Amino acid sequence: MVDLAIIGGTGLTSLKSLEVVRKEVVHTPYGEPSSAIIHGLLGGREVAFMARHGYGHTIPPHRVNYRANLWALQSIGVTSVIAVAAVGGIRKDMIPGQVAIPNQIVDYTWSREHTFCDHKGAHVTHIDFTDPYCAELRERLLSACDASGCAYADNGTYGATQGPRLETAQEINRLESDGCDMVGMTGMPEAALARELALCYASCAVIANWAAGRGESVITAKTIDENLQVGMAHVRSMLEHVIA
Ligand code: HPA
Repeated sequence: MVDLAIIGGTGLTSLKSLEVVRKEVVHTPYGEPSSAIIHGLLGGREVAFMARHGYGHTIPPHRVNYRANLWALQSIGVTSVIAVAAVGGIRKDMIPGQVAIPNQIVDYTWSREHTFCDHKGAHVTHIDFTDPYCAELRERLLSACDASGCAYADNGTYGATQGPRLETAQEINRLESDGCDMVGMTGMPEAALARELALCYASCAVIANWAAGRGESVITAKTIDENLQVGMAHVRSMLEHVIA
């Protein structure tokens, strides 16, 4: 049974090195997941892969069915999830094209289905979210970064914004004064839902651009694509080391 899943974000809708074994469509009580789950072999080990924004990259961050995605993965036996996500860099060492392994989150999203604990008659549940990411999986990601020789920033607070628009320069100033080092649109409620399901969840952020007002020029789709291509190459080789 497969126990490790990779959720791919923008720039990682497929994994070239994944030897696809089969696809599985899972229906959930929370609706349809973003995509079928791909079962495959990565470095000889079985992993499950799901494209967060759908295989055609058609689902924007605020419309991703995070509950269905995580529920579907757990229903096939997954216990650990590596979430790959594009971010904008706020802190000086969050350099476009590089990778960061965040250790904290500030959530600015709204109006997303953010909990499994809201059905009628359910006990009121307050999960512990002091450390939002699974420490053990983070360590594995960091060791894999070292082993694969990829440039990365350890630690950092992920500010989760609603999107789909990028932020204003002043919003980024506010995030920075709140302690955010990077900004992305998909980190929440994904991390909290994973914790509710007791999944071991960690994030591998790929820095796609300097956050608004931090770079020299306007943020273009072309810059984002170019940086993501560089960053995702690091992620692919890093993932092979995680699996190994
Ligand atoms: N802001 C929010 N999300 C992002 C960004 C950004 O600058 N870049 C990639 N995802």
